[in-house]
Amino acid sequence: MTGRFITFEGIDGAGKSTHIDALAERLRQAGHDVICTREPGGTALAEQLREMVLHSPMDALTEALLVFAARRDHVQQVIAPALAQGRTVLCDRFTDASFAYQGAGRGFDVGMLNTLENWVQQGLQPDLTFLFDVSAAVAAERRRAARSPDRFEKLDIEFFGRVRQGYEARLLKAPQRFAKIDAAQPREQVWAQVVAQMEKRGW
Ligand code: TYD
Repeated sequence: MTGRFITFEGIDGAGKSTHIDALAERLRQAGHDVICTREPGGTALAEQLREMVLHSPMDALTEALLVFAARRDHVQQVIAPALAQGRTVLCDRFTDASFAYQGAGRGFDVGMLNTLENWVQQGLQPDLTFLFDVSAAVAAERRRAARSPDRFEKLDIEFFGRVRQGYEARLLKAPQRFAKIDAAQPREQVWAQVVAQMEKRGW
């Protein structure tokens, strides 16, 4: 028995978080055993690495190695065991974020990211990835209203434009894995798109 692995991606300010909670609730009501987790993070060690990645200055290579180190621990300790027990795993960001932020955003070598992905995941991929797509300008507006920025959220609109393109490039490489959501719409309409994508799959 293998559970379903669903990930949620998008630039900072795309507004994915509330929909993760709502989807978890919906799936639980339908009788699924759901865990919600996040990256970087999801284990004690990976949460420590998250703290460093989000708040300590470092170069792009160090940043990439730390997010994949965190991912390795998370996959081994949490994600793979949960899937093996037939649980549904909802994960706020996963490897697409590394390709989008470290790859497209920071300009880190994509070939090396591919190698790290293979080492760390050994073939594990999400069954479905929701990509909350919104322009860098709209996302920046939402972030300004919402919270104080971490290292990434301080970056400029050009950076987030590149991150958005990085996500699009990942989608084009594996279109069957992705559900692209127009996240510029009001929250209820974004949620309706999420539900429609689940229903389309009979989930
Ligand atoms: P985010 O998931 O947006 O959390 P919050 O809602 O608390 O701000 O923050 C995580 C940040 O980490 C986000 O800016 C993207 C970045 N990140 C990477 O750069 N690479 C990665 O591989 C992952 C998983 C996240």
